[in-house]
Amino acid sequence: MVAGTTAAFLGLAVALGGGLATPASAADPATLSGIILGVGANETQRIVTWYSSADTAQKVQLAPTATLANGEFPAGAATFDAIGGANIATSGGFNRHATLASLQEQTAYSYRVGAEGNWSPTYSFKTQDFEGDYDFLFYGDPQIGASGDVAKDQAGWQDTLDVSLAANPNAELLVSGGDQVETAGTESQWTAFLAPDKLRQYPWAATIGNHDVGSKAYEQHLYTPNTDRSAPLYANGQPTSNTSGGDYWYIYKDVLFIDLNSNSYRTASGGGGDEAHIAYVTDVINQHGAEAKWTVLVYHHAIYSPADHAKDSDNKVRRVDFPTAFSNLGVDVVLQGHDHSYSRSYEIKNGAKANPGEQPGAADVFPGPGGVIYVTGNSASGSKYYDITAPDNSGTSGAGNGADPLNPNSYWYNSVQNQEHVRTYVKVQVRSDKLVVENVRSGTCAAPNAAVERGAWCNNTPANQPVGSIVDSVTVHPYQGDGQAIQVNVPNAAPGEFGWTIDGYNGLVNLGTAEDHNGDYFAAAGHINPIVVSDNRRSLAPWSISASVSDFRDGDKTFSGAYLGWTPQVIEAGAGAQASGSVASGYDDHGQGLSVSRGLGWANQGHAKGTARLGADLDLKIPGSVEKGGYRATLTITALSS
Ligand SMILES: [Fe+2]
Repeated sequence: MVAGTTAAFLGLAVALGGGLATPASAADPATLSGIILGVGANETQRIVTWYSSADTAQKVQLAPTATLANGEFPAGAATFDAIGGANIATSGGFNRHATLASLQEQTAYSYRVGAEGNWSPTYSFKTQDFEGDYDFLFYGDPQIGASGDVAKDQAGWQDTLDVSLAANPNAELLVSGGDQVETAGTESQWTAFLAPDKLRQYPWAATIGNHDVGSKAYEQHLYTPNTDRSAPLYANGQPTSNTSGGDYWYIYKDVLFIDLNSNSYRTASGGGGDEAHIAYVTDVINQHGAEAKWTVLVYHHAIYSPADHAKDSDNKVRRVDFPTAFSNLGVDVVLQGHDHSYSRSYEIKNGAKANPGEQPGAADVFPGPGGVIYVTGNSASGSKYYDITAPDNSGTSGAGNGADPLNPNSYWYNSVQNQEHVRTYVKVQVRSDKLVVENVRSGTCAAPNAAVERGAWCNNTPANQPVGSIVDSVTVHPYQGDGQAIQVNVPNAAPGEFGWTIDGYNGLVNLGTAEDHNGDYFAAAGHINPIVVSDNRRSLAPWSISASVSDFRDGDKTFSGAYLGWTPQVIEAGAGAQASGSVASGYDDHGQGLSVSRGLGWANQGHAKGTARLGADLDLKIPGSVEKGGYRATLTITALSS
């Protein structure tokens, strides 16, 4: 057998007689609140934002959840320094945010914010495959406080998040339709909005609504990536005023999202108006459109919607300004809020219905070049609903609100309109060849449903539709240009090699404090960090993994590695792996324990290709004469293959 030897090290530690006390830290006075997980610039990032009562140096600590032991972060956990500033006077305190970067795919992470000695509770999120299909959820106007009862609004909001994520636990993004709160500067409403723990587990992609714009609180609470905070993108043209604004973009897997501050729509108010947004969207798509397969725009003020705001003069301005630009830029879908009712538009091209024959409620839509689908979300919280309004004689294109010739009760631009006074959310399935957009009920007429509890009507159509039932579903099949689009998905390469690695984060193998057995000996136990072995060679040649441990040391105190024994195991079978035999602690048999090289696992000539995970239970027994201390040793791992 030819020895291809590589080595790695596992640190082992054991404390004797409670010798390793955690040093006490000075108390940090900062109170941490309003923690929210936000979307990052792409799928490998997240942004965490929070409030602090004190202006101290803070950070986010992050580690794969698998490396936490008894809730404790490993010594080598990553940290990301936070930045931020003072809040406006009405908010009080300070804001902080940090960008978590270089995340790995398919990983469950734990994180907490603060500083040594003053950490927040630990929260968790997971990443998934960084390529391919995924689902995201879109939530219209939670607008906490709109019903007049913040607690009831919060209950409905909490329930929609719970229901939607119970049904879609692998959804990757929570996209906002704007109006997080009723009153921009009222922190108690922000506290209620931020209360659901789901907002610390799934990334929120914030959108600014007309109820969020009048204070800095929106920006203080919801830091966003790639944000242009220049004057034209603020309604009053004053980024330093006590208002919020700015446009931002991010790419999440195959979708380029561009999120606009639609509060700024006319230059007369001081900002750059719709022109500035179109310039921004044009720039972003020119620079980054080719990096994604889809382009989704998000902004608050629906230009095609079915209810109270459908005829607003400001929306008519946007309805003239935006659609041709969006068609020319190849936007696929636009997600909107503000009208607290659900609508899905026909295919709209250059501000008119593209295909006069498109039927109301069609289950499949095949937009041609320039075709855009506009979706408006209903209330996600139940705090407020707007009733559907009637078409008029103002025309059936452009700024007009005329009737659909195919469905005279509907506006000309809407394929589907719905208002039942029931909470809903929009689920979007991103697939390589289609987008599936569904409006899903997250409640019924029953509580929590604040607006209805406070006297509004409620009427399922048809009656008694349960939570999770579908209001509308449409599959959007994209225009692929004049040629034939061909896609192939390439998986991770399976190298024809033998290799091994320590699984996940190679944290300290901490055996804790050894137990005293009647003064005769101390005993401690634990597990090595598992070893992943993969062998895809054609030769099907044998392999083996072995290890030995150094002496345990604490300063000039020491005891022999021979006192460590183990019981190897195959945790996940593959690659023909078999576990090597147990080795007793030298305390038991006066042998050499793991102080000499011992097998962990092996495979015979002709074994199957594949991957195995090997582990071992550690058994340490040391004489009662060993002195108190915190001892460490190194386990050296060696692989042999021919
Ligand atoms: Fe609104």
